[in-house]
Amino acid sequence: MDRIQSAIAKARAARQGDAPTGRARAADPGTGLGAIAEAWNAMPSVTLDPKRLRAGRMVAYHGGQEAAPFDMMRTKLVYQLRERGWTRVAITSPGSGSGKTTTCLNLAFSLARQPELRVMALELDLQRPSMTGLLGLGSGHRFASVLEGMRRPEDELLRVGPNLAIGVTSERVAHSSELLASSRTGAEIDAIEDRFRPDVMLFDMPPVLVGDDTLAFADQVDCALIIAEAEQSTVSEIDRAGEILAEHVQILGVVLNKCRFSESGTGYSHGD
Ligand SMILES: Nc1ncnc2c1ncn2[C@@H]1O[C@H](COP(=O)(O)OP(=O)(O)OP(=O)(O)O)[C@@H](O)[C@H]1O
Ligand SMILES: [Mg+2]
Repeated sequence: MDRIQSAIAKARAARQGDAPTGRARAADPGTGLGAIAEAWNAMPSVTLDPKRLRAGRMVAYHGGQEAAPFDMMRTKLVYQLRERGWTRVAITSPGSGSGKTTTCLNLAFSLARQPELRVMALELDLQRPSMTGLLGLGSGHRFASVLEGMRRPEDELLRVGPNLAIGVTSERVAHSSELLASSRTGAEIDAIEDRFRPDVMLFDMPPVLVGDDTLAFADQVDCALIIAEAEQSTVSEIDRAGEILAEHVQILGVVLNKCRFSESGTGYSHGD
């Protein structure tokens, strides 16, 4: 636990220091509430299968005791974002399989149980997309096409309930790093934010130490949350991932996932 605490202290120091925030904020074009509601209503809505969600560890969809760690994370996140006027959060990790996608979706479900929030979860792990499988959405989805300027956001975003939108991609996308680094991607994300006005945009990213996709996209987000895997992610890996990211983006904290001995028994422990 000491090692994790030291990683957290480093992340906190990086955040409180003068690390760059990455992106300049877009000017407010004054989108009216009616236009925002219309834009959300125009998205196709999907109904998720509770059995499928349970099998994929989507415990925060319905709330309750199992959702408690995500609800805690949600509340801390909302405070931090509001305090700083931020909306965009990258969810990443040092290596693969630490629980990024599970955390991203559960956090999105937890946030969306607050009806006054508009929430987006966008899958940008384009090398290993897994959300369609976890959510039971089948094939043929390609949110990446919106970033390429080939499809409109309302053609690819899916609405879950009134206030959660997800953008998923069924198949691996070639040249994902170049796509994520492109100015078109930045412009498309800005356009989505202007039109749909989400309070929170969660980006499910690839691991930092495996490729440059997350780094390529870092200047598009306000902050990053690092998901470390208990007994798998080493402190030097967490440090390295934190150092790489902190040059470009503020680090919000480290979440220790898959703890066998977490206080709540849920496998999650919060670093911030
Ligand atoms: N708290 C947890 N306890 C036990 N298993 C978990 C926990 N969180 C996630 N998992 C499991 O770990 C596996 C990897 O999770 P997930 O796909 O969310 O990780 P990831 O970091 O997104 O992986 P990748 O790097 O491949 O995208 C899944 O089988 C998931 O169900
Ligand atoms: Mg994943």
